[in-house]
Order: sequence, then structure tokens, then C-alpha cells
Amino acid sequence: MQDMTLIEPVPIHSILSDVPLSFSLYTHGEGEDERRYKKLVEKGNVLSSGVRAALIYKSTGNLFIRIDERPLYIDYLGENFAKINAQGDTPKEEKAKLLYQSANRIVEGVFSQPNIDTAMAKSQTVVGETIELLMNDENALLAMIRASEHEYRLFTHSLNTAIFAIGLGHFLGMEAPELAKLGFTALLHDIGKIKIPAHILDKPGPLSEYEFEMMKMHCHYSYNIVKQFGQKDRVILEGIKYHHERMDGKGYPDALFGDEIPVFARLIAICSSYSAISSHTSYHEAYSSFESLSIMKKEMVGAYDPKLLQDFIRFLGSLLVQKK
Ligand SMILES: [Fe+2]
Repeated sequence: MQDMTLIEPVPIHSILSDVPLSFSLYTHGEGEDERRYKKLVEKGNVLSSGVRAALIYKSTGNLFIRIDERPLYIDYLGENFAKINAQGDTPKEEKAKLLYQSANRIVEGVFSQPNIDTAMAKSQTVVGETIELLMNDENALLAMIRASEHEYRLFTHSLNTAIFAIGLGHFLGMEAPELAKLGFTALLHDIGKIKIPAHILDKPGPLSEYEFEMMKMHCHYSYNIVKQFGQKDRVILEGIKYHHERMDGKGYPDALFGDEIPVFARLIAICSSYSAISSHTSYHEAYSSFESLSIMKKEMVGAYDPKLLQDFIRFLGSLLVQKK
């Protein structure tokens, strides 16, 4: 395997030792052979702990996989999510990236098979791992945001919204149990969109009045899906149901006004809008953080809780300070 266009790097810390791999693993030569790749582990075999330790000792940052086996690698990340994060030798920055990638895969699975019993448990795992990383490392959130994908897809949007919500909640001083509830609510706030026909969901232009009425139903659908899984917590259920309410009473589904809107719903409205605006969608290119916030402040006056929006701006600002 010598064609660089067919191969891509994966961090060595994402490869567990002594676990059969569903993809082949490559390494590159040294010196003049640096651009030549050789197979290190054949698909179906394991990377021994000795070889892995030696590679880490030699500061081999990356190993390589074939691009056509990338989906297999991503599946492997999703399946081994907890084990990879539990490894003591993974640098924190790397952990955040791996967590994002594996969480993204898990959330994609949850959204494509919402009827399986394990879907909710997996969502809780994603939220729990994110919170744990965040609590242990102040830079983890920024690393996750940097690693996040900006192509708008339902599961990516949901995961990004959850990451922002957990970050904002943490910034506001919420404790882990409340953060877990908030993260779970944010992760599943739009799950009802799986019931919206694709031609409406992906329509590259403004919706007709009828289509918009259909689209609005996703709040009820999300609420019902989560409730049917046995979720009884009103804070979670109402946070999901009311995430499209507006402070000026012009939102949906119930046109609640101001403080009538539950705090989780107000918080998720901000994080969800920011995630959508700062992503590339069928309506627009991805906006920068500054542009996204400007749009939210100028064009959506009356939509958001002004105090929480200010907090969100301060929270994003605090991340940028960490960046320096
Ligand atoms: Fe929504």
C-alpha cells in the first residue's frame, strides 16, 4: 500500500491492544521510506500490547487505515467507546477528539434505529462520558468543538447541541446530575425529525405553509418518542417539547410566553440555533462563531432569553480565551 490518496491517519491511542480489528492497520517506513506504507495488522488480527507500547514509546503519533475501511474504523470507535476513553495513556486533547468521533457514530445509530431498547442507554453513555471528560479537563470542550463536524446532519446537529448545552450548563455552575439531564434533553430534542418526510426535512429552500406545519410536529414527535421509552422526568420531556417556543410568545407548539418556557427549553433553543447557524445546511454555508451570534442577536430579537443569550456569548468567549 503506497498510494497516499488511499490511506488516512488514525491516532495510535484509538487502537486498543489485543482486540481483533475489523480493518487493516498500516504504518509508514522511516527515512527515505517515509512515504511508503506497510501493513502492520491484517484485518481480523490484533495489535499486541507489546507492539503498541513500543510504538507509543517511539512517539509514533499516527497509524494508518485505508480510506475505504474508514466506516469500519468508525464503527469500531463506536463499539469500543468506553474502553478507549478508559485507557490511561490517551492524551486529553486526543480523548476529546476520539470522544466526539465515537459519540457521533453512536448518536447516528440512535437516530437510525430509535426503536431499539438500548438507544436511550447509549445516549446516556454519550452524555455521561462527555460530562466526565469536561469535569476533568477544562480544554476538553474546546477540543470537542474543534473536532466537531460542521456539515448539518440531524445526528451531528443533535450531538453539537448537546455539547454546547453541557458546556453552557457547566459554565453556569450546574452540577453533574443536572448536566446529565440537560445533555440528554439536548441530544434528543430533535429526534422527532426522523418522522418528518425527507422531502420536507431536506428541502433546499423555504417551506410552504403546509410543510412548515408538518415540520412543527417534530416537537411532539420528539416528546412522544422519549416518553415512550419510559422517560417520566417532566424537566426532560418539557425541555424537549418546548425548544421552539420564543420569549415573545410567537413560538410553537403552545405559544408560551417568557418565563412560562422551561429553562431547559430556553437553553436548548439557543444552543440548537447556534449549532444550526454555524453549520453548513441546505439553506446556507457555515457561519463563523461571530457571524452566528450576530445573526442570533440581530435577526432573532424576541426569540431567546436575553440573559441566557448573554451567558452563552460569555461562555463562547471564555472558550476563545482558553484557546490562546
Ligand atoms: Fe427543533
